[in-house]
Amino acid sequence: MPITTCVFDAYGTLFDVGAAARQAASEPDFKAIRSDWAELAEHWRQKQLSYSWLRAVANAHTDFWEVTENGLDWALEKTGHTNDPELRERLLALYWELQAYREVPEMLTRLKAAGLNTAILSNGSPEMLEAAVRSAGIESVLDATLSVQSVGIFKPDTRVYDLVGACFDCDKSEVLFVSSNGWDAAAATGYGFVTAWVNRNGDPMERLPWRPAHMLTDLTGIPTLADL
Ligand code: LAC
Repeated sequence: MPITTCVFDAYGTLFDVGAAARQAASEPDFKAIRSDWAELAEHWRQKQLSYSWLRAVANAHTDFWEVTENGLDWALEKTGHTNDPELRERLLALYWELQAYREVPEMLTRLKAAGLNTAILSNGSPEMLEAAVRSAGIESVLDATLSVQSVGIFKPDTRVYDLVGACFDCDKSEVLFVSSNGWDAAAATGYGFVTAWVNRNGDPMERLPWRPAHMLTDLTGIPTLADL
């Protein structure tokens, strides 16, 4: 079946999650993280994701913002920056205006010009996603921003992927699902979507039962995969 609908993970896929720590590290007030901002960002991201999975299996759902704050607090302690409340506040503020990757606006514009449905499907809360979409200026090239909040569990629970069919009334095989998270692309493959893993860092393939149909190093090839 031809692809009719392109759905994107948000954090790490459209929006650069490393940008918050990188930006803060470049500001005079936050010299303290100039040498270890990348380590801090990596711990923050990994803990944010771990907490989302643990809360899903433990049936202890909460807003993704709380998971994001909890992950940051762990990362700040791990890297020895707990005594800097202004740094914490700045990093959290920057998370609301993460930069989109450079190729995002043009790629989405091409998909929309070809008549495809476009959407975000993310763990993020509706408020977080709305702020990120607005700050990236991509509202006009997205048909929907779907948040896990309406089903009350995080990815990769299949109820999250069900949101796409419910929104667009399309078959799974018509959906190209794009994620920079190897586990998300793998699970969405198991669900039945056509999938693309955006592997910017050249990471190894996840050892999970499903392999994404496609692997790219950035998002510029998405219109081609959608056969435009
Ligand atoms: C999201 C996270 C998993 O946007 O990146 O859903």
